[in-house]
Amino acid sequence: MKERTIASIDVGTTKVCTTIADVNGSGALQVVGVGIVPSVGLHKGLVVNISEARESIRESVKKAEQACNYKIDSAYIGVTGRHVASSNNRGVVAITRNDRIVRPDDLRRVLASAQSIKVPNDRKLLHVIPRSYGVDGQAGVENPVGLSAFRLDVETHVITAAETSLRNLVKCVRSIGIDTEDLVLEPLASSEAVLTPDEKQVGVILADIGGGTTDVAVFKDGSIWHTSILPVAGYQLTRDISIGLGLPFDVAEEMKKRYGSVIPVYEKKTESKAISQDGHGASYQDLCDIIRARVEEIMKLILLELPTSEYETLVPAGLVFTGGSSNLAGMATMGRDLLQLPVRVGTPASLPGISDSLCDPAYATSVGLVLWGARNSGRQIWRSRRFGTALRRLALRITDVFARK
Ligand SMILES: Nc1ncnc2c1ncn2[C@@H]1O[C@H](COP(=O)(O)OP(=O)(O)OP(=O)(O)O)[C@@H](O)[C@H]1O
Ligand SMILES: [Mg+2]
Repeated sequence: MKERTIASIDVGTTKVCTTIADVNGSGALQVVGVGIVPSVGLHKGLVVNISEARESIRESVKKAEQACNYKIDSAYIGVTGRHVASSNNRGVVAITRNDRIVRPDDLRRVLASAQSIKVPNDRKLLHVIPRSYGVDGQAGVENPVGLSAFRLDVETHVITAAETSLRNLVKCVRSIGIDTEDLVLEPLASSEAVLTPDEKQVGVILADIGGGTTDVAVFKDGSIWHTSILPVAGYQLTRDISIGLGLPFDVAEEMKKRYGSVIPVYEKKTESKAISQDGHGASYQDLCDIIRARVEEIMKLILLELPTSEYETLVPAGLVFTGGSSNLAGMATMGRDLLQLPVRVGTPASLPGISDSLCDPAYATSVGLVLWGARNSGRQIWRSRRFGTALRRLALRITDVFARK
């Protein structure tokens, strides 16, 4: 039985994807509507033209709504961009009650204390994620509720982002009548869709190579350890091809998707296979050499951006690629050869409902956003409701309580 409906909007640099899903009492999802449209007005994950971006979002939402005949008034929204920063932080509180038993309220207090870090005026907290708790100096406690302690501390992963970028995104979505249920960092969302609990436990990197950005999230000991956003992805690949082979951008894009591969081509120049697209010709080997050089750079950058160079011990489970660019043939093999780590491409598992169109690494963020929404409802940090909507919801909730009596 459907208990509630959640929606997510992945506002990507190349596409906007709205997903609507029903959630039942046990938290299981049923996708009922998907709307995918090309995006305009975005650059490297950021809104650069509000009116253009708004139209893309409107189109995508309309498509998803038409598929299920629902009207959505709020959604989980993905956030990315070079302005995102992260750090690991601690919070500490004393348990002063006579029984010294840790209660849920103490968890809230200790998390609030971890949130009280100094965030510059032009930045906003996006996530404060508890990584592990400690009681009286004993670290690595998963759930301290019920334990006796004088002191409770928490290790958190804190993610902040530029306020103006967040505001532009929220404003864009609100201008079409949709409130922001929560803003979710995109690699965190993608990881919900493709990583296994085991990978997160032993240590794994998720790298979502999209159109404008490569979003990186590192998981260790079951929780998030590091996040970073690189401003290079599929768009730069296409630009390299366009410049390198002297082709119009659109032709280079189509050629990349149709023939692109990172598997080395061993051919003599004179025998190189010729490929063509929309009346333009090129050498297959040249195309693959250009793509390979840029992908190699991206893969090396992913590791260089990590705060440690000991990545074999940090991430024994290796690297999982998502994002549209991970569709390039040979990504996993090249990753394994270059980085000497296990590498796979992560395709989101199909959710019940009409979600076949989402079974592509490009939709890991979209699928992950609804999974995140289903799991984290009620724990939002960034919640923007218009006053009218908030009142309407409150009225509905009160009516509901009386109706149940
Ligand atoms: N088969 C393919 N081969 C190579 N590249 C592909 C293929 N399919 C899609 N891409 C590339 O994937 C990119 C789009 O990926 P994705 O949909 O994950 O990005 P996005 O979410 O719109 O952008 P971002 O997350 O960076 O804001 C484009 O650059 C596109 O060229
Ligand atoms: Mg994306």
